[in-house]
Amino acid sequence: MQATTDHIKITKTKESKIHEVDFENIPFGRVFSDHMLVAHYSNGSWGTAEIMPFQSLKMHPAMSVLHYGQSVFEGLKAYKSKEGTPLLFRAKDNFARFNESAERMCMAQVPEDIFMDGLKELIKLDQDWIPTKTGSSLYIRPFLFATDEYVGIKPSDDFTFIIFTCPVGFYYPEPISVKIEEHFSRAASGGVGAAKAAGNYAASLFPNQRATEEGFRQLIWTDAKEHKYIEESGTMNIFFVIDGKLITPDTNRDTILKGVTRRSVLTLAKEMGYLVEERPVEVAEVVDALKEGSLSEAFGAGTAATIAQISEIGFRGNRFELPDVESREISNKILDKLNGIRLGTVKDEHGWVVRL
Ligand code: COI
Repeated sequence: MQATTDHIKITKTKESKIHEVDFENIPFGRVFSDHMLVAHYSNGSWGTAEIMPFQSLKMHPAMSVLHYGQSVFEGLKAYKSKEGTPLLFRAKDNFARFNESAERMCMAQVPEDIFMDGLKELIKLDQDWIPTKTGSSLYIRPFLFATDEYVGIKPSDDFTFIIFTCPVGFYYPEPISVKIEEHFSRAASGGVGAAKAAGNYAASLFPNQRATEEGFRQLIWTDAKEHKYIEESGTMNIFFVIDGKLITPDTNRDTILKGVTRRSVLTLAKEMGYLVEERPVEVAEVVDALKEGSLSEAFGAGTAATIAQISEIGFRGNRFELPDVESREISNKILDKLNGIRLGTVKDEHGWVVRL
């Protein structure tokens, strides 16, 4: 069936796959909703965006993203209110960061009427795919990649933009054990660490695999120059509670992703009256606090992970166990409030939620 909003063409699937999904047990990122949005950029302009049945892509073997990695992406989530209204969380912030990443990677900017309007139409169409079980949501993956068929290094002239969605459960179902990494680096100053560029994640795989072999789930990255300062953790920004203060590395440099969940956590923590410090955080400060017992909480914050509690931190062969998750006042209170806002049960005083 075909329809058109004023600028988005919609072709609905003939057969929904929703009955095949066990919404009680959804693995992260392996189940895909019925539709996706696709738009192509060529000759300096965007074609009509189209919502179509979720399907595989046809690729030219010389497509430049396959060789040189010119690709950026975002992650955001949709929830359903008690009344069944789809709720989008901070989509405009993700849209803004998406185009910042695209600029850094020499890629076309995606216009708002394609990203935001396309996103809203897609979520409305596949709203039955938004899970309602506690801890679950509809994960939304917008991405942009270079499609020039050319075996040479230059910014691509042509791009494809796609949004697909996945009903998901927890990214980290359990608190995680993380290792402070002092050899490998995620990002160097002047590089692309602040962009959500696909290659950043490819580069993290080998160091992370090493850490996994040592029994850790994730790394805490440190600065590439001296390995003296904490940067972020794997797929998330990182927070510590030391002496009752909520501390996180500042993002006034180009090596740390400016997380949307990170910003939400900071806003809510300040409003709740907690002492918050955004500043360079030395590895030594964290390790000393672990040794002295003044570090009471550590957690990651990201769209996929939400707030992921850290149960153990490894450093130079030592493993420090952290206090029980139940005892963590600050992160638990922030998570409760954040979840309430996202689900529409707590008043959204910041205009973060869009009701569809
Ligand atoms: C997110 O938190 O949305 C991410 O993009 C992290 C990861 C799943 C790659």
